[in-house]
Amino acid sequence: MEKSIKQQMQEVKEKALVCTDCRLSETRTQVVFGEGNPQARLVLVGEGPGEQEDKSGRPFVGRAGRLLEEVLEEVQLQRKDLWISNVIKCRACIIEEGRARNRPPRVDEVKACRKWLDAELNLIKPSVIVCVGAPAANLLIHKNFKMTEERGQWFTDSLYAPSVMAVLHTAYILRQHGEEYKQMRQLLIDDLIEAKERTEETQERQQLTLF
Ligand code: URA
Repeated sequence: MEKSIKQQMQEVKEKALVCTDCRLSETRTQVVFGEGNPQARLVLVGEGPGEQEDKSGRPFVGRAGRLLEEVLEEVQLQRKDLWISNVIKCRACIIEEGRARNRPPRVDEVKACRKWLDAELNLIKPSVIVCVGAPAANLLIHKNFKMTEERGQWFTDSLYAPSVMAVLHTAYILRQHGEEYKQMRQLLIDDLIEAKERTEETQERQQLTLF
């Protein structure tokens, strides 16, 4: 009997949890694999785990994750309706003044890690992918992605899903203040509404072609 997507995802996860293919495995507390519904039509992909994710082993649970959850709730989406993952699965950080600070993933780290995201996306075959921040957009849409110019646009030539869009990263929004913060938060909400609608439309179209 063929294994379910859930079983296959669990097998990929078990392999990822013991991965030592790059140096980040030496400093991580644990691997942070994607989570949610492996049959979801909508997938969110962030940059990589931060301190809280490294501690808990779950994606988007720190401050940026709480903001993401808040806006998802506002557009009536829940984690259980989605698959939430990251480009890299282990925390990338530098030690400054005795404290670990997050840093963007390096090219070699992304190269070593992308097999896990590839495996997740190949199993799920989502209708829509939302790249949360530029690192995911660079990987899943195109290199040198310009968030200021290309955010909120649909890209339909990706190998990973029929529709891919990039949105502002919640960690970036959290660094804004006052009116700027409000505007960017609203932009994220508008983009997520669009992504939700696009997912529903794609599902309806697929159902019509089935009958
Ligand atoms: N937490 C994650 O899991 N990913 C991010 O990109 C940021 C915070």
